[in-house]
Amino acid sequence: MNPDFQRRIQRYGWDKAVPYYESAWQRALRPAQERLLEAANLQTGEQVLDVASGTGLVTLPAANQVAPTGRVVAVDLSKKMVHALRAEVQRNGHGHVEVQQMDAESLDFADETFDVALCSLGLMYVPDPAQAIAEMHRVLAPGGRAVSVVWGRRSKCGWAELFPIMDKRVSSDVCPLFFQLGTGEHLKMQFEGAGFQNVETERFSSELPFKDAKEACDAAFWGGAVALAWNKFGDAKREAARKEYLESIAPYRSGQGYEIPGEFVLALAQKDASEPRGGA
Ligand SMILES: C[S@@+](CC[C@H](N)C(=O)[O-])C[C@H]1O[C@@H](n2cnc3c(N)ncnc32)[C@H](O)[C@@H]1O
Repeated sequence: MNPDFQRRIQRYGWDKAVPYYESAWQRALRPAQERLLEAANLQTGEQVLDVASGTGLVTLPAANQVAPTGRVVAVDLSKKMVHALRAEVQRNGHGHVEVQQMDAESLDFADETFDVALCSLGLMYVPDPAQAIAEMHRVLAPGGRAVSVVWGRRSKCGWAELFPIMDKRVSSDVCPLFFQLGTGEHLKMQFEGAGFQNVETERFSSELPFKDAKEACDAAFWGGAVALAWNKFGDAKREAARKEYLESIAPYRSGQGYEIPGEFVLALAQKDASEPRGGA
């Protein structure tokens, strides 16, 4: 797929997802985000970049961890995500958090600006994840660390039928290589390929709770990247897609709701401490 087209689908799809994202996904994603923050081991005073920050579910706890002398810069492709997070930052009175609209593949920061780069559940949406990881490497100071979490294998993510269900109803794939990074050693190889050292990865599972069919469907169709396509569907198309999706997650019914299995892969990597300042 043309990368610019993929970026537009992501940008405007995530714009549409803003009102649904936290109500549908916050509880389900918490274990993965907490694991990422634990691995990052942020310290007071550190300069942190949060790539693909969304509504700030990682940005805000990170800001608390590096306060009062540290700083967090959050970037996201979606203008509405950026506006939502900026408003939240202001409500929280976080003067040390800055939010900018920016593409992960082209970070508008000088080399060696940050101590830590975080990317929680963002790399799967970027047309060229290797370029996004190379950018994280470039903006990290020597010895800086990057931590990223992505979804794991398709076969271990119980909600994965969502993509074929959507793709057969639209003219182009919404997230063509979504599960590639979470397969085998792919994530580790991408970080090593970008020049990172001491790359450690870990695969873990977690149940994604949704209180009823509506919440599970809102999360799938409104709360993420497919929201742009979903927004254009008429009632009949929506009903057919909803029915098919609910059939695909039926094995994970739990009372009125669902406990859908999910798998994640986390990478913790370091930029060479001896890399000369001013260029590799
Ligand atoms: C699943 S959300 C993750 C948000 C947040 N990091 C979290 O853990 O809740 C994915 C985010 O990636 C952003 N995104 C997608 N493509 C991007 C790109 N090329 N550059 C920056 N952000 C991007 C979307 O706008 C969306 O906010």
